[in-house]
Amino acid sequence: MPAMIRPLLLGLAALGISALLYSRAQAGGDHYFPPVKHAQTLAECGSCHLAFPASMLPAASWEKMMANLDQHFGDDASLDPQTTAAITRYLVDNAGDRGGRSYGRKLLRGVAADEAPQRITTLPKWVKEHREVPKSDWKKKDVGSKANCAACHKEAEQGYFEED
Ligand code: HEC
Ligand code: HEC
Repeated sequence: MPAMIRPLLLGLAALGISALLYSRAQAGGDHYFPPVKHAQTLAECGSCHLAFPASMLPAASWEKMMANLDQHFGDDASLDPQTTAAITRYLVDNAGDRGGRSYGRKLLRGVAADEAPQRITTLPKWVKEHREVPKSDWKKKDVGSKANCAACHKEAEQGYFEED
């Protein structure tokens, strides 16, 4: 193809893709949780597991978790004070009861205002959504843990958690 046309086509393809993602985000509703874009959070909280979307937990949960990183589910995930502060700010600002409300709202249903749940996988709504997942599925070698979202939600890193 003529060299001039190629960038134009690439541009159009990119437009098509972003329009598609946009419409999926709109249609996604309950399944779309904006993925972590904040570089420090992505690096430090995405090294052992999926960098869980901030909107999946309320602000109080993130505050509590970030204050106890040395005892993080049996691991020491502690960071220097500056990094801890920056990540805490990002998670809290985008929590499911703050900036990320329009996404996390449904997942946080049933969580009282004075609670600070430390697991997404124990939220009443999460448990309900996964009630029909057969026990044998959780035990599969490539799953291993309920927190291993990406084993079943192939697009978890892109923020999509629909059935697939
Ligand atoms: C050194 C490894 C490590 C690092 C780094 C780490 N985590 Fe974790 N995290 C774990 C382990 C282990 C679990 C428990 C996973 C399981 O139950 O399978 C966990 C669980 C979690 C859960 C609960 C998942 C559930 O069951 O719903 C959240 C939320 C979480 N981490 C957030 C974070 C955040 C935020 C950061 C960054 C500040 C972080 N993690 C960094 C090891 C790590
Ligand atoms: C063993 C596979 C498996 C794992 C691991 C898993 N899920 Fe799911 N998840 C499913 C299935 C299957 C459904 C659809 C359930 C249904 O509709 O009956 C689902 C549904 C959901 C929904 C509801 C989507 C909707 O349709 O509204 C959300 C949100 C979700 N999962 C988030 C997560 C998160 C976050 C994690 C990790 C912390 C996770 N899941 C781990 C299998 C899994």
